[in-house]
Amino acid sequence: KKRIVSGVQPTGSIHLGNYLGAIKNWIALQNTYETLFFIVDLHAITLPYDTKELSKATRDTAAIYLACGIDASKASVFVQSHVHAHVELMWLLSSATPIGWLNRMIQFKEKSRKAGDENVGVALLTYPVLMASDILLYQSDFVPVGEDQKQHLELTRELAERVNYLYGGRKWKKLGGRGGAIFKVPEPLIPPAGARVMSLTDGLSKMSKSAPSDQSRINLLDPKDVIANKIKRCKTDSFSALEFDNPERPECNNLLSVYQLVSGKTKEDVAKECQGLNWGSFKPLLTDALIEHLHPIQFQSNMIFSTWLLTGVHENQLLSDLQLV
Ligand code: TYM
Repeated sequence: KKRIVSGVQPTGSIHLGNYLGAIKNWIALQNTYETLFFIVDLHAITLPYDTKELSKATRDTAAIYLACGIDASKASVFVQSHVHAHVELMWLLSSATPIGWLNRMIQFKEKSRKAGDENVGVALLTYPVLMASDILLYQSDFVPVGEDQKQHLELTRELAERVNYLYGGRKWKKLGGRGGAIFKVPEPLIPPAGARVMSLTDGLSKMSKSAPSDQSRINLLDPKDVIANKIKRCKTDSFSALEFDNPERPECNNLLSVYQLVSGKTKEDVAKECQGLNWGSFKPLLTDALIEHLHPIQFQSNMIFSTWLLTGVHENQLLSDLQLV
C-alpha cells in the first residue's frame, strides 16, 4: 500500500481552511492508503507559546481529527513529539540542508518579519527540516496539504534527492556504500478546491490561525450564532450577480468555493444556482450549509471531549489511547 502522512499544528483553533485544505481530504484516503496523521506539537513551539495551552490544544486537535472522521482503527493518529525519531532525523537532515534553502522560505520571511528579531528563534528557520523529517521518516508517497505548504513540500523533495545523491547514489557507491535511494521522494496532494481558503475580512489574505481578528475565520467549533454573525459581517463587493473566478472579486470566489465544498455540490451547479442571487439571498444559504456541515463534527467532538473528561484522559495519554505507529 502507498503511504500518506500529514499533520496540523496545535496552535489556536482549527479553522475552515485547515479543514477544507487538509483534514477533510484525509478522510477518503484512509480506505485506500496506509495513513499516518499526527498533531505536530513541535512545530507549534517555533513562536512564543504557553505550555498549558499547547497541551490542551494538542488534545483538542486529536479530538477534532476523530470528530472529522479520521478512524483510529484505519489510520495511525499520534502526537509528533511522542515519536522521538522525528527530531533525531531532523538533526541528520539539517546537516545536509543548505542554509540558503531555508532563508528563501516564504513562511519564514513572513513570520520572522511579524515576530520581530528578538522573538525569532532558530527553530523558526529550521522548521521546514523538521517537516521534511516528519515526511521522509516514513518513506511517504503522498502528503495531502493546502497550498501554503507547497514550498515546504518542494524543499522536502529537494532534500530527499540531495541526501540520496550525497549518501545513497553513485557517489556513495564509489566510496563503498551500497548505493540506491535512501529516501522516497514524496508528492504533494493539493486539492483542486479548498487549497487556499481566504479570510472573511479580506479576500486577498488566506484564512489563518494567527490573524488577530476572529471575524476573519470560521473555527470548526464556532457555535451556530457565531457562524451566522461572521457570515453576515464578512466582506463582499458591490457587483450585482455572483460568479467564480473573477480576479476582481476574490471574496466572491472564496465564498462560492466554500459553499461548494460544504454543500457537496459541483462547481457548475453552484455557479448555476448562484448566478441569479445577490449577497442578501446567498449569505443565508451559505450560513445554513456551513452550520449543517459542521454540526456532526461539533456533536462528535463534544462527545469525545466529555468522554475524555470523564475518563481523565490528558495529552500524554493519547499515545496509548489511540491506535499508534
Ligand atoms: P498548519 O498547521 O499551518 O496547517 C494545517 C493544514 O491546513 C492547511 N491550511 C489551509 N488550507 C487551505 N486554506 C487555508 N487558509 C489554510 N490554512 C492552512 C495547510 O496547508 C496544512 O495542510 N507545517 C505544517 C504542518 C506539518 C506537516 C508536516 C504537514 C508539519 N509536518 C508533515 C504535512 C506533513 C503546518 O504548519 O500546517
